[in-house]
Amino acid sequence: MAQTRRNLNQERGRHGVAHFAIERHLEGDAHSTLVADVRRGLGAYPKTLPAKYLYDERGALLFDAICDQPEYYPTRTEEGMLAEMADEAIRICRPSQLVELGSGASRKTRLLLDALMENGGDEPCYVPVDVSAEMLSRSADAVGRDYPELAVHAIVGDYDRDLRYLPPADRRMVIFLGSTIGNFTEIDARRFLRSLRAQLSRRDWILIGFDLVKPVEVLNAAYNDAAGVTADFNLNVLRVLNRELDANFDLDSFRHDAFFNVGASQIEMHLRSDHRQRVSIPGAGLEIAFASGESVQTEISRKFSKSSAVGLVCGAGFAPRHWYESGDGYFALLLASAAAVV
Ligand code: AVJ
Repeated sequence: MAQTRRNLNQERGRHGVAHFAIERHLEGDAHSTLVADVRRGLGAYPKTLPAKYLYDERGALLFDAICDQPEYYPTRTEEGMLAEMADEAIRICRPSQLVELGSGASRKTRLLLDALMENGGDEPCYVPVDVSAEMLSRSADAVGRDYPELAVHAIVGDYDRDLRYLPPADRRMVIFLGSTIGNFTEIDARRFLRSLRAQLSRRDWILIGFDLVKPVEVLNAAYNDAAGVTADFNLNVLRVLNRELDANFDLDSFRHDAFFNVGASQIEMHLRSDHRQRVSIPGAGLEIAFASGESVQTEISRKFSKSSAVGLVCGAGFAPRHWYESGDGYFALLLASAAAVV
């Protein structure tokens, strides 16, 4: 198990905002984690790489560009839904603290923050949690500026491991948007939600975005945009390995391949080798052989039904309270209370 080094770095006051703090809780040695992940993933058959390595600075920008592609419906669908239901959700939960896991640029969050400032508890606090320190401090800073009455307590960390650092609160609402829950395998999603539940009290709430099963052409198009942005995003992980581990991946000899696996109800994103080739990754002490057409799986994105989403959330000890579904049935938001009757 990698050790988490507690490196508290409070920057209160520096931003000219009433209450602003950033806490850093990143793993002590991100590099050795990368080496271990690459050895495990590329040494196995079939080959895989953890999706989190898609999101270096350039990858995060490419993901933002994906959200603007006409084929990629989840972001704009979820944003439209939040605009409709944010007030009601805040009135139901009345949180004093809004926690956002994987906050990224905090764009959609503002819809909930507006509602929070109007109808939330006293002394509202926003707690964005993200692994990307640059993105987080930029967006937390902007939120602090735009909402001077809001305390902002940003946590740089892995929301899958560092939730014990949530500041205490009367009543929390934890939001996990974008269907990022779909990037976990079923087992990992269950484990993640259980450990989240263990950090919460019975007064707390969660709001989770779920991308839903829909016609396969719509799903395939969303991960194969005509402009090729998703392909760039996928190939970028090879750039990350070339830079961090001195690898010699030739980006021109791998193809983006994303498709809906109906049986597993998930989009699978792969990089497929054009031809037989060897790649060296000195930083991980690896020489890897690729057969012609062999793939590396770089991401899964599971697609849910109402019953699979509700089942997942119930199984982790939450009580679903409200299921919001977009008019086209493409996306859903599930609001659930931590006060489940067990
Ligand atoms: C933000 C991780 C949920 O799975 O749809 C978009 C990432 N990958 N296009 C998704 C992604 C390829 C996205 N998540």
